[in-house]
Amino acid sequence: MPYICVKMISMEVVSFIAKKQSPMLGKSVAWRSPSNIALVKYWGKYAPQMPANPSLSFTLDNCNTKTTVCLRDMDTINQTSLGNFSFDFSFEGAPKPDFHLKILAFFERVVAYLPFLKQYHFSILSENTFPHSSGIASSASAMAALSLCLLELSGEFLDYSEAFKAKASFLARLGSGSAARSIQGPLMQWGKTDSVPHSEDLIAIVFKENVAAVFSSYQDTILLVEKGAKAVSSTVGHGLMENHPYAAARFNQAHNQIAVLSQALKTGDIDTFMHIVEQEALTLHAMMLTSSPSFILMKPATLAIIERVWTYRAATKVPLCFTLDAGANVHLLYPEKHKEEVLQFIENELVVYCENAQYICDSVGAGSVSVSI
Ligand code: DP6
Repeated sequence: MPYICVKMISMEVVSFIAKKQSPMLGKSVAWRSPSNIALVKYWGKYAPQMPANPSLSFTLDNCNTKTTVCLRDMDTINQTSLGNFSFDFSFEGAPKPDFHLKILAFFERVVAYLPFLKQYHFSILSENTFPHSSGIASSASAMAALSLCLLELSGEFLDYSEAFKAKASFLARLGSGSAARSIQGPLMQWGKTDSVPHSEDLIAIVFKENVAAVFSSYQDTILLVEKGAKAVSSTVGHGLMENHPYAAARFNQAHNQIAVLSQALKTGDIDTFMHIVEQEALTLHAMMLTSSPSFILMKPATLAIIERVWTYRAATKVPLCFTLDAGANVHLLYPEKHKEEVLQFIENELVVYCENAQYICDSVGAGSVSVSI
């Protein structure tokens, strides 16, 4: 019944239209938002930024973006405006015009929900804690932090209530799908699916089931196999799922994976957790291998690391597993109590596969925080 679906979705969208805004003219606000790593992958979308399948992620802690936005009067600014909007953007201390079109596209998508965007000038400063061009996607943390700053400056909410966080996730999603999952933590679920109560396509929600304690301090060590820009942009990547011969089976599989993973998270079943997480990573890459055109985003070092991880796990019984994003870097996931031995294993056997021997140690985190300035 397509008509009913469209109606239900648009009714919910209406609830994110600002009722009353009291813009904080002359004020600066700052937010720090983390990156996240998907355990069940979002891969495939339709307009406007709706997921073709549900996803579930760990929010990270150390890898984050800090964004500061100052709301200024247009008349005080000697700046050419872009389209209907006026803003300037600096990244890590230097003006970055390359990002203007991305910000413009984001403003255009969210202006219906933040009407004050047309009336003021926005000075935006941003910086990442992870190395620039490390191959770690920054769109999730960047769009989450920007959405939080804009929403706070709009003055629509008096506090960081659940409604504030829901709207921030809604706005972040319109910037980048995975950004919807970077507002809160430690486990975030996005996309309607029967096994998760209150799941939504419009926003990501905190995965609130009783999660076993082991997962609250899980480690993610990111091996930087290939730094630099991604070979396939996420827009192109998601587009590959349109007319993909295995799309229907994949979307269906994601629902089942979430159901099984939810149970494993509740019972602390690490074997099942590892099985699903690795299957998801390999399925994501299988989708790219079998799309038209096809892409091979893993490098020989990626495969070598996976083999080493499997051999190490079989020999030591240490519950170490991997996941991948749409690139060659490898995320190693493991319980905190195995941190020392896993880091030793990385130093002994895996660091040779990393560009400039670089890797990043991160762990599960609580989500975005407001930064006082
Ligand atoms: C492979 O969120 O970057 O990391 O919505 O086009 O911005 P856009 O895509 P993006 O896609 C992320 C894809 C992924 C899997 C995931 O994070 O779920």
